[in-house]
Amino acid sequence: MSEQTLTITDNRTGQTVELPIEHDTIPAIGLRQLKVQADDFGMMVYDPGYTNTASCKSRVTFVDGDRGILRYRGYPIEQLAEKSTFLEVAHLLLFGELPEASKLTDWNARVMAQTEIDQGLKALLKTFRADAHPMGILVSTVGAMSALYPDSKQVHDGQSRLQQAVRLLGQLPTAVAFAYRNQLGLPSTDPDGALGYSDNFLHMMGLSGDGEVDPVLARAMDVLFILHADHEQNCSTSALRNIASSDADPFCAIAGAIGALYGPLHGGANEAVLRMLAEIGSTKNIPAFLDKVKNREVRLMGFGHRVYKNYDPRAQIVKKIAYEVFEVTDTNPLIDIAVELEGTALEDDYFVSRRLYPNVDFYSGIIYQAMGFPVEIFPVLFALGRAPGWLAQWMELMSDAEQRIARPRQIYLGEAERPYLSMDERG
Ligand code: ACO
Repeated sequence: MSEQTLTITDNRTGQTVELPIEHDTIPAIGLRQLKVQADDFGMMVYDPGYTNTASCKSRVTFVDGDRGILRYRGYPIEQLAEKSTFLEVAHLLLFGELPEASKLTDWNARVMAQTEIDQGLKALLKTFRADAHPMGILVSTVGAMSALYPDSKQVHDGQSRLQQAVRLLGQLPTAVAFAYRNQLGLPSTDPDGALGYSDNFLHMMGLSGDGEVDPVLARAMDVLFILHADHEQNCSTSALRNIASSDADPFCAIAGAIGALYGPLHGGANEAVLRMLAEIGSTKNIPAFLDKVKNREVRLMGFGHRVYKNYDPRAQIVKKIAYEVFEVTDTNPLIDIAVELEGTALEDDYFVSRRLYPNVDFYSGIIYQAMGFPVEIFPVLFALGRAPGWLAQWMELMSDAEQRIARPRQIYLGEAERPYLSMDERG
């Protein structure tokens, strides 16, 4: 018997199956042989929330949640955040390698040449009400790109895939800034392809007034985008892979991913953290708030992670950036509440025993607010950063011969067959 196998005995029948082990996993389909009756469907795995199911083999991002490690294509997040630009990281995620100088120049130019958005898209963005949530607008924006670019349906053509990726990376910040300024009743600012990616975004948002964007803020935005750029098979990326597995075009798939990101348990957490800190209002209210968390009345937003059972390495970097940003902007008084809240929670057995630490969203909103972004737009900033990761994961999926349409099974617990009831027999 090979050592690289798992032998399972079904104690209902005494039947034994031997399954191959590859990368510490067994093929779930192998369990199907285990049956009590010959016409049974066979054994399945029950895994709500996919806590222990690998849905793909990936070469993009590595996370070791126990040791607090995050790497894109092998490079530690700390080094990328310190030394790279966001577009450089986007290149790394999409193509697998950091670009040489001339390639990076070409790549930057290629993306920045795509920053204009279509007049039809502008007309659509003008239809949203002033109180529309920016994530709803973003879902619609990316969905509309599917209609604007019918060639995006050529999902098995590598050149077409790259074309859509560049369009999305180039146009997304422009559409976000256009929608934001339209909601405020302000004229839009045209993209400036000569600027850096984040510099141009802040310039279009108009957050620096009439002057040039402060380089500290442009760099902070770039690093925040880098930190959000990918996180392997999280909720939104899994949603994207599910949608794209039917050969849907990337804009529809990414619109779906944005929908998944919107929820407060995922990318909407940065918005929820800010609201939570504002509600706490003062450090003296922290103990009472943590009591409510421990009584399960509320969650401590920005804490906890499915994978990280140690400090999220991104949160450490974000916390550091906050103080750099406050050198340029006014300080955000919520940082004092956040720091004390974190310190108190990390000494409390409730959080220690459950291994709950700050995640990437705990401190990011405090920075965004200091930079002048309204709270509602925080999840959109997450989406802008995540775009290259979604695209890289989509490209990987489309060239993975082992992938098939995503179609989980269920355990059916409903009614057995029963005769139809006519209207006068019901009730
Ligand atoms: N506050 C209080 N208790 C928490 C929190 C929290 N933020 N997170 C987890 N717990 C508790 C749970 O109540 C549970 O306790 P129990 O075992 O006594 O019932 C235990 O810790 C395990 O939590 P689960 O909910 O089973 O963990 P799961 O992996 O399913 O959820 C999640 C992870 C959704 C991130 C969760 O920690 C959470 O809701 N956090 C707050 C929202 C948040 O910050 N989301 C952003 C995540 S990062 C990102 O998406 C970019």
